[in-house]
Amino acid sequence: MLLDGTDAGALQRAAELLAAGELVAIPTETVYGLGARADDDAAVAKIFHAKGRPADHPLIVHVAEPADAEQFAAKVPAVARRLMAAFWPGPLTLILPRADGMGAAAAGGQNSIGLRCPSHPVARALLAAAQRLGVPGVAAPSANRFGRVSPTQAAHVVDEFGEELAVVDGGACDIGIESSIVDCSRGHPVLLRPGVLTRARLEAAAEEPLRDPDADAPRAPGTLAAHYAPNAKLRLMPQQMLTSALQLLGDEPLKLAVYSRSVPLTATKGVRHRRMPALPDQAAQELFSVLRELDAEGAQLIWVEEPPTEPEWDGVRDRLSRAAAS
Ligand code: TXA
Ligand code: MG
Repeated sequence: MLLDGTDAGALQRAAELLAAGELVAIPTETVYGLGARADDDAAVAKIFHAKGRPADHPLIVHVAEPADAEQFAAKVPAVARRLMAAFWPGPLTLILPRADGMGAAAAGGQNSIGLRCPSHPVARALLAAAQRLGVPGVAAPSANRFGRVSPTQAAHVVDEFGEELAVVDGGACDIGIESSIVDCSRGHPVLLRPGVLTRARLEAAAEEPLRDPDADAPRAPGTLAAHYAPNAKLRLMPQQMLTSALQLLGDEPLKLAVYSRSVPLTATKGVRHRRMPALPDQAAQELFSVLRELDAEGAQLIWVEEPPTEPEWDGVRDRLSRAAAS
């Protein structure tokens, strides 16, 4: 069931479903989330069941206002406070020590909890409406089946879960890849997942360097080597290798798609070319929907030109390497 995110009545209906412990897919500025009230373990269990996600993989809890996050946290370290002040509402998730008895199922049983205050106006209106009905926060992983490409449009969510699910339509997501995740629960802040906020911007606001995950870093499915996979087999190649590979192709009846910034377009029969945008934010915005489109067109193989090594491309490069590892 599609609910129009610009319609106050439809948003109220969605808020009532959340309050009643039902699943509702919600738009955010990054990707669509599959939401349930975070204070209801039975409601949260429906998310794990629908996604096919292992129950010990923690979810992100979304709140209407930055200050609403505090009830879920046992403490908010100063570095987390600086990051919140700089980037909330926005595409940043903070892992904080979890307050006793709050969001245990959402946190996958861990003693930390992922918190995010999204900036999408429809998400904020929905979270506020749900809060008026007593919902303190909404647990929501990306609204895709476990391991698959995240949805950036309402129609993608319907493709994943069918017409039965209540999906609030907030249009195409502006950012297109998931939030950056910074773990502030274990002393030094750690960048668990890159997003569109560059490390440099995060470090400037944190006023300290961010470490890379080590062996004791918390489990995070979005950080598994193989994730974000389209149905087609995806290969990442440098421009030169991709160009040569294309020259070697005969007129094979292969369902090949090429997604690149700079290889010359060839007219090889059966090869579908898509141009990757030259700007990293634009590339992020369309990445998952392009992978879905190429799948829908029946591509069996997607050859992708490696993105540039500049830090602005970290989020896109991370998602593509994981897609290629599947
Ligand atoms: O942009 C986003 O973050 C989207 C939108 C819907 O907000 N959500 C999203 O959720 O990407 P998901 O579940 O697909 O990825 C959440 C990531 C996972 O890698 C999860 O393991 C990590 O956050 N995470 C959540 N809580 C955690 C915790 N307590 N400790 C460590 N990692 C945590
Ligand atoms: Mg996900």
